Amino acid sequence: MSCRILLIICVLCFPMNTGFADEQSNKNIASCFPQMVDTHLKNWKNSQISTLLKKGKVISMRPMREHLQSTGKKAEFDGDVFFVELDNGLKAVFKNLPKDDLGDAHAEVAAYQASISLGFPNVPPTVMTDIKGMKGSLQLFVETRIEALNPGIYEHALNEVDEEDVANLHLFYFVFGQWDSGPHNILIVKDKEKTQLIAIDNSGVRNHQRVKYGELPFVRVCYSDKLKTNDWGKPFPFEQAKTIENPTTETLQKTFGDTLPASFYQSFKGYGLPFRYVIHQNSLWRQYHAGDGEFLMSFTHHLSDRTRKALEGLNLSMLKKIFTSAKNADFLTPAYLEAILERRDQVLRHFKEHRTYPSLL
Ligand SMILES: Nc1ncnc2c1ncn2[C@@H]1O[C@H](COP(=O)(O)OP(=O)(O)O)[C@@H](O)[C@H]1O
Ligand SMILES: [Mg+2]
Repeated sequence: MSCRILLIICVLCFPMNTGFADEQSNKNIASCFPQMVDTHLKNWKNSQISTLLKKGKVISMRPMREHLQSTGKKAEFDGDVFFVELDNGLKAVFKNLPKDDLGDAHAEVAAYQASISLGFPNVPPTVMTDIKGMKGSLQLFVETRIEALNPGIYEHALNEVDEEDVANLHLFYFVFGQWDSGPHNILIVKDKEKTQLIAIDNSGVRNHQRVKYGELPFVRVCYSDKLKTNDWGKPFPFEQAKTIENPTTETLQKTFGDTLPASFYQSFKGYGLPFRYVIHQNSLWRQYHAGDGEFLMSFTHHLSDRTRKALEGLNLSMLKKIFTSAKNADFLTPAYLEAILERRDQVLRHFKEHRTYPSLL
């Protein structure tokens, strides 16, 4: 009899932890944890999940690469990332960062907060955390069997997802400056029969950048007093962008010499693409993905009324709230926040200028 009662309780709690309809692997005993909440994406704005992420004790932790490989998944990332299980049944992703530069983690938390304020896109609940003396971000782990990195899968998913959701993802990326977009930072899940895109790894949000809507952003990658640009207060010189066709550490050294710090050359990655850049305000601004014909730019012709209102509602005090946890991060300057509102203004201006009126007939 008690077995039957236990079975009934488990069956009742079971749908609460499944998250996504096709995810049999989620259907485990964790759903019977007393503190368990429904982690379906419709509840991601619920602060209960964040609280559980913060309060849960780590019961197991393994490198994400190992976890992905054990489930037959591809691993395309560079960071110190871990798959973590908590004593309250939640599964999460911990990204360990140097204690003196937690900017990436603050950006990830802000991206989640922005998704709540705007109502889009789908960003899993994310909090700052401290695990065994290591600091970083902790994000709800989202189960999926779909491998976004397999050829054609991402493109196919983009066609299946609601047009408004795809447009909103592009608009979020553009306005909040998540330039590191693409299938390597997207999870694809099937929720009942609906395909949903989940935006993970939003650390690119931290980078200062300059961009025109419909073009690729120039991302600030390096500051150096030695550049002596003496152009404070001047507009960003998009028209002065230069390109180095086959960049290597040597060709870059020839171009910039010791005006850039050694750390820039040490961490340089070419990605097999031309190096397009602008020098402005003592900084090097790199246009990632320039020359990559496959790259899908953060641009859309679609703006729903709901999204327009959400974007119109963004203001400085909302942004300060979104970036609350980042308030001591060095990227969070007045100019950084103004640049987000400036990109928002560009989007609204674009849609005002390109408004199509319904036919009167
Ligand atoms: N919330 C999540 N749910 C499920 N898997 C995730 C989640 N976040 C990250 N991952 C997995 O971990 C990998 C590395 O995470 P990511 O945030 O992209 O790290 P990096 O900053 O090193 O690129 C991702 O490519 C993905 O496979
Ligand atoms: Mg990544």
